[in-house]
Amino acid sequence: MADPAFTSSTLVVPGLNKVPRHIAIIMDGNGRWARKRFLPRVAGHSRGVEAVRGTIRAAIERGVEYLTLFAFSSENWRRPADEVSFLMQLFIKSLHMEVSRLHENGIRFHVIGDRSRFEPILVKAIEAAEELTANNTRLHLTVAANYGGRWDVLSAVNRALAKQPGVTEISEEMINAGLSMNYAPEPDLFIRTGGEQRISNFLLWQLAYTEFFFTDALWPDFNGKLLDQAIASYQNRERRFGRTSEHLTTGGEVERHA
Ligand code: IPE
Ligand code: IPE
Ligand code: MG
Repeated sequence: MADPAFTSSTLVVPGLNKVPRHIAIIMDGNGRWARKRFLPRVAGHSRGVEAVRGTIRAAIERGVEYLTLFAFSSENWRRPADEVSFLMQLFIKSLHMEVSRLHENGIRFHVIGDRSRFEPILVKAIEAAEELTANNTRLHLTVAANYGGRWDVLSAVNRALAKQPGVTEISEEMINAGLSMNYAPEPDLFIRTGGEQRISNFLLWQLAYTEFFFTDALWPDFNGKLLDQAIASYQNRERRFGRTSEHLTTGGEVERHA
């Protein structure tokens, strides 16, 4: 497990990498992709799985170490029951079809989110995939399913309270340690497809100093070229983490991207 103190952008100024170590993506726009083609919304979700496959491949080629994909939010239960059910079945089917390929490619698979509402067959498939890939190191692939940023922070606080009964103050380190993605550095780059410019209860705590990239492209159309666009935009940002620009250009301890 990564030491959370070394990956917190507010406790330590993080080192910079030309290629983002951690990219987090809100995969949005599947429904609109389908509607544009006079197809049912769920056809967009099926095509979305293909975009996931291509994005994983591209991320590995670019040297990304952590890829985190928002697949289903804690608020997505508000959708029509048949769409929710389709998404759950698609998740189960994709796990069964893809896990061995993930493993062959050295990918470590994680799911973050509240599993208590999932069918037992889905929970079992997730656990099996996590176990199978537990020793892989090429890419940490995290799928956020029934995930909410507020749920994550609250769970971390409750974990801290349970660990040290009677504690009256919770520290940032305690929350970092209790987050569901405590194995990963904070995302360097956040991408949202589908044109909306909002976080929709994704990684609220960890996005404190993340660079944001929004594209109108709909998720099923996302590909390596768009990933490169996002990475190029990221490489043009000056990540100051609260310091001044002068401090960075006159030899502050962390330099701009090379
Ligand atoms: C994202 O696409 C996938 C999920 C939220 C599961 P949407 O289904 O939100 O597609 P739009 O935003 O309606 O086009
Ligand atoms: C965010 O997309 C969640 C996922 C992509 C899984 P939504 O489509 O649910 O977000 P809102 O409702 O437009 O904010
Ligand atoms: Mg949407």
